[in-house]
Amino acid sequence: MAKPSSPQSHSNYQGIPGTKLLGNARLTFEDKEIDLPVFEGTEGDRAVDISQLRAMTGLVTFDNGFGNTGSCISSITYINGEKGILRYRGYDIEDLARNCKFVEVAYLLLEGKLPTEKELGEFSSYLNEHALIHEDMTHFFTGYPRNAHPMAILAATIASLSTFYPELEDEHENFKITTARMLSKARTIAAFSYKKSRGEPFVYPRYDLSYCANFLNMMFASSIRNYEPTPLLVKALNLVMVLHADHEQNCSTSTVRMVGSGRVNLYAAISSGMAALWGPLHGGASQHVLEMLERIRQDDCNYKKYIEMAKDKKDPFRMMGFGHRIYKNYDPRARILKETCDEVLDELKHTDPLVDIAKRLEEIALRDDYFVEKKLYPNVDFYSGLLYRAMGIPLNMMVVMFAIARIPGQVAQWHEEALDPNWKIWRPRQIYSGESRREFLPMEQRV
Ligand code: CMC
Repeated sequence: MAKPSSPQSHSNYQGIPGTKLLGNARLTFEDKEIDLPVFEGTEGDRAVDISQLRAMTGLVTFDNGFGNTGSCISSITYINGEKGILRYRGYDIEDLARNCKFVEVAYLLLEGKLPTEKELGEFSSYLNEHALIHEDMTHFFTGYPRNAHPMAILAATIASLSTFYPELEDEHENFKITTARMLSKARTIAAFSYKKSRGEPFVYPRYDLSYCANFLNMMFASSIRNYEPTPLLVKALNLVMVLHADHEQNCSTSTVRMVGSGRVNLYAAISSGMAALWGPLHGGASQHVLEMLERIRQDDCNYKKYIEMAKDKKDPFRMMGFGHRIYKNYDPRARILKETCDEVLDELKHTDPLVDIAKRLEEIALRDDYFVEKKLYPNVDFYSGLLYRAMGIPLNMMVVMFAIARIPGQVAQWHEEALDPNWKIWRPRQIYSGESRREFLPMEQRV
């Protein structure tokens, strides 16, 4: 093998704003030796900058499912999956979930700081002002079949907002309005989509109610039923929405950034994110957790059978609500949700056999070698569906709840990308594995 020539390195490397340059990692391949910059984020995450790798060596990197790829520099959310840490803008999720309302946390994610009383009041007024959707948009709902999934209606109607509210400015004040509009109208659309699925008239937002109380009212009030959202349910809804508000570069948020990188408008980017969130491996999991628990209940609680099915590679069954790409420890959101679920059921004096089944299943799984070795713990969706169920939220609305709760995070991530001076359109490479060039065959010669 030829001796490598002296190492090549990035010329005039400027470093990456917001990170610290640590040194170089040396890569040797064939007769080339190159130095790649290594940098570190504020919490000690280290990365190799491979952006010049192809120019220097002709190589690209391959990382199936992006499990080992940092796609952006972000100052919004921090996760340490090994230690089970989740922070928004530096604040621990436990502190935010126990002390803040959803709107406060939305402000934090969007503005980078917790709001003062005055700032929160202003933001809440924006939310109130923009809660209605244009009356013409209500006609969209009549066009969908009665059994249309509310998530499909939500994603489609969010994309349609750009036809009614096309003005999107980057100027700060307008961004606040656009954000408030997105958050507030999404809540109204979500509740309308539920009413549509029940064939009931829409209930319009009320100025005197908070964000979460308003949502519950739009869902459950009707002309024949007096409904007053109880403080307990409002508190529980705030908590579960705070827990879902952001989760750094997951499948749907990365979709928002990917779509946003082409400089599409915010509504289209968020609608794409919602479509990505819908899948059963992502935000759709809570519905599937409940279906799985119900299946186990109807099967005389044969836990062993389902644990074995989950472990069997030939069986497509997976333990829904278990496992996570990032968490190799208990998901901190799942811990909070499990406690809250108990508190809500206690206060409502309800029992739910599915909660007991979930806890027993968790206990058995966490003692099983397969789950221990693979570090598979309950994730956020294992208990969120049970909490929503305790609150009276129907099965087909669970992913919709996740989607509207995730909007602050997705908007913050979209905005961060939009303001990034080093922004680039996202365009990954591939390794082609198809046919090499073939001679074209006219129709009569094809077999
Ligand atoms: N049940 C049984 N085995 C599992 C499970 C599960 N739920 N999750 C992972 N495994 C196994 C998997 O078969 C693989 O085994 P092996 O190494 O022998 O091939 C190993 O654990 C690693 O799994 P993976 O699929 O490579 O992990 P991933 O990071 O690609 O997938 C996941 C993460 C969440 C898609 C996966 O754990 C899963 O399908 N879980 C069930 C669905 C679910 O609960 N989704 C909600 C995620 S949290 C909400 C959100 O933010 O999206």
